[in-house]
Amino acid sequence: MEIVDIIQKKVNKQAFTKQDIDLVIDGVFNKTIPDYLITTWLMAIYINGLSLEESYLLTKSMWQHSSYIDLRGLGKDIVDKHSTGGIGDKVSLILLPIVASLGLPVAKISGRGLGFTGGTIDKLESVGVKTGLTKEDMLKQLKQHNIFITTQTEDIAPVDKVLYHLRDVTGTVGNYGLIASSVLSKKFAILGTHVYIDVKYGSGAFCPTYEEALKLVKYLKYIAKRMGRKLTIMISGMNQPLGRNIGNAIEVLEAQDFLSGNVDYTPDLKELIYKLSSVIIMNYHKNLDAKSAYKLVDDTIMSGKALNKFYEWIQAQGGDIRSVKTKKFFHPKHRYVIKAKKNGYLTFVSNAAVGMLSTRLGAGRILKTDKIDPQAGLWFHHKSGEWIKKGEPIVDCVSSKPINAKEIEKEFTFCCKIVQIKPKKIPVVRKVIYE
Ligand code: URA
Repeated sequence: MEIVDIIQKKVNKQAFTKQDIDLVIDGVFNKTIPDYLITTWLMAIYINGLSLEESYLLTKSMWQHSSYIDLRGLGKDIVDKHSTGGIGDKVSLILLPIVASLGLPVAKISGRGLGFTGGTIDKLESVGVKTGLTKEDMLKQLKQHNIFITTQTEDIAPVDKVLYHLRDVTGTVGNYGLIASSVLSKKFAILGTHVYIDVKYGSGAFCPTYEEALKLVKYLKYIAKRMGRKLTIMISGMNQPLGRNIGNAIEVLEAQDFLSGNVDYTPDLKELIYKLSSVIIMNYHKNLDAKSAYKLVDDTIMSGKALNKFYEWIQAQGGDIRSVKTKKFFHPKHRYVIKAKKNGYLTFVSNAAVGMLSTRLGAGRILKTDKIDPQAGLWFHHKSGEWIKKGEPIVDCVSSKPINAKEIEKEFTFCCKIVQIKPKKIPVVRKVIYE
């Protein structure tokens, strides 16, 4: 069987066998299949889908082509948290130091920006954090600081590294079998973790509705069960950016601000962070109730412990701690402010369009070879449902490159509008699914 025959099989809506999947994944791993054939294979899957069983076989094959980091000897479950991707989703930057500051060990493999969504690795690299850690680095970091984040490397989740990058630039991200295999093949490369997945739904996520998010959850649960791994899943909304900042350095700035105690500036981010942190802590300390867990989260933020853990972690992974502490890392050369054309309530038409606007400013990739502009992004002065007066700023657009005002104003019309009826407030966290 050749790769072309395997592609043809999916074009004809037939199921892959284990041998078909292993042949493709071997070829990706050994670099014997050219990018154009891999992307055709991805597109065939994107169009005709994968069954739960095919997705499990794909995950397993990708996982078997990775080397592992075995943390099973370290006692209790290590925490790993992952999001399926959203706009302004800086949760990992905030939540991980919170739980690490409370004594829970954290080990995370993360990705870069994907499609119109941002990635934790790009955000961390915007402040000089080293993200391609060796196994020795990871173990040392975990022992000394209780926390590390790394990205896919030639060694760890190498197949996902290739597929992730190609999916990003060929419009083949949003297939549930591909998302689930991408997430879990890399998550499970660390042995001994309990994985928490934040499944996003809404116009700024790969699952457009809550019902669609439940379909992705089915894939995640099926694969985790077949692989004998522990998973807790939260489903949360992504119909407006999470928090107020979108981009890379600009999101690190918001994370730092949140950890400094300014939690009520972004109520949606607060709801999600406090809820998911509490779920994680209660799972770790089985006798803790929700109220006590919430208080622990609040105390570690308000006492400055979580912020110190954030600084310790950035410094230990080679980040430019001086510029982080002084906030000098954020220095965009160009800024254009979009103002309200009339009085009314702000509402988001398409959060994906917000992600595209941020990408257009330089915060994401359009072509495989594109370099991220760490300074580029958006700062929303208002959240959905807030009243704005004509002439007031809605959003600051920032970039290292000159900003084309006419183009940006036009694109913004696809993102937000001002309406006269106040949009309904919807809670961010919709459901938590325990094992
Ligand atoms: N996160 C991942 O790691 N992979 C995806 O495909 C989507 C979100």
